[in-house]
Amino acid sequence: MILNPELFALKLLEWAKSSDRVMPWKSEKDAYKIWLSEIILQQTRVEQGLPYYLHFISTYPDVHTLATASEAEVLKSWEGLGYYSRARNLHQTAKVISQQFNGVFPSSYTGLLQLKGIGPYTAAAIASFAYEEPKPVMDGNVLRFVSRILGMEIPVDTKEGKDTVYQYISDAIKYTLPSAYNQAMMDFGATVCKPVSPLCNNCPFSQYCIAFKQGKESIIPIKVKKTIKKELIFHYYVFNVEGQWTILQRRNKNDIWKGLYQFPAIEVEEKHHKQAAQKMHQLVNEIFPGNENFKPFFIKEIKQVLTHRIVIGQFYQIDINFPSPFKINKEYNLVERSKIRNFALPKIITEYLKLTNF
Ligand code: ADE
Repeated sequence: MILNPELFALKLLEWAKSSDRVMPWKSEKDAYKIWLSEIILQQTRVEQGLPYYLHFISTYPDVHTLATASEAEVLKSWEGLGYYSRARNLHQTAKVISQQFNGVFPSSYTGLLQLKGIGPYTAAAIASFAYEEPKPVMDGNVLRFVSRILGMEIPVDTKEGKDTVYQYISDAIKYTLPSAYNQAMMDFGATVCKPVSPLCNNCPFSQYCIAFKQGKESIIPIKVKKTIKKELIFHYYVFNVEGQWTILQRRNKNDIWKGLYQFPAIEVEEKHHKQAAQKMHQLVNEIFPGNENFKPFFIKEIKQVLTHRIVIGQFYQIDINFPSPFKINKEYNLVERSKIRNFALPKIITEYLKLTNF
């Protein structure tokens, strides 16, 4: 059963009362100072952000002081935080508020959103902390915490995932004091419901948390994985021995094709054609010791897309006449062309047979 949003909010606030995370911006009601703290905390963690916050509020105690400072001064104050466009936006927005709004911040979430550098998270933080507007903050911490509580199978990095979380926290915030609720959400995600090793044994939600009850706290939040498929490139050598036989090799390597038969192959990294020629010579010499008379010619390329990899097979034909004396390495099988389908073959090989009417 899903924890209802009202009980969620009450439990969260109960936890917040017992939490001892002291931060100078906690319970702050001045929109200017809240704004400064949020912009700094977008950039860095609480411990690193703290001295910057203290420096900013003592150097620029109100929005007018910040607005009249030079850009160089503001950038100097920001030094070390990185992402300097944030500092420039901060300065520009201070000028707008100072000159156009008489130093007064917009008094609603929607109004705040109009300002440069203020997005939904910052607008919700200022609107709730300064004006008690019931707008929930949602960031990675919140998505993680709530998706675990709900045991969400929907990835949190999709619109549907985000909408589900947003709906839940929007319901929950209505039952509490918005400022206390949002501050508690931020603190809980950072200190208890952590990304790695969350403190589930000391968590007031453990009896309600679906992820915890199902032992899934380490796999939720689920994200749409952008798996980078590894590209494997093989050169296959289709020997044509006297127009009647070919060579098959058993794959011993411990991979998905272990035990299957294939045309003798080398694996190459795309741009190393020199390396490919060398490897090919070695291979042919291994199969037919002492035979130097061969000329591979390219037949075709076949691409196979698997879940985790893309296999590119480049097929070359090598015509070989029985040399005398004829010697062949026992590890390789001289197979009659018409019998090749009696062997277990990887899909890329059967595809080749089909496409070339082998
Ligand atoms: N991260 C962003 N805003 C925060 C705040 N007000 N308190 C703690 N962490 C935060």
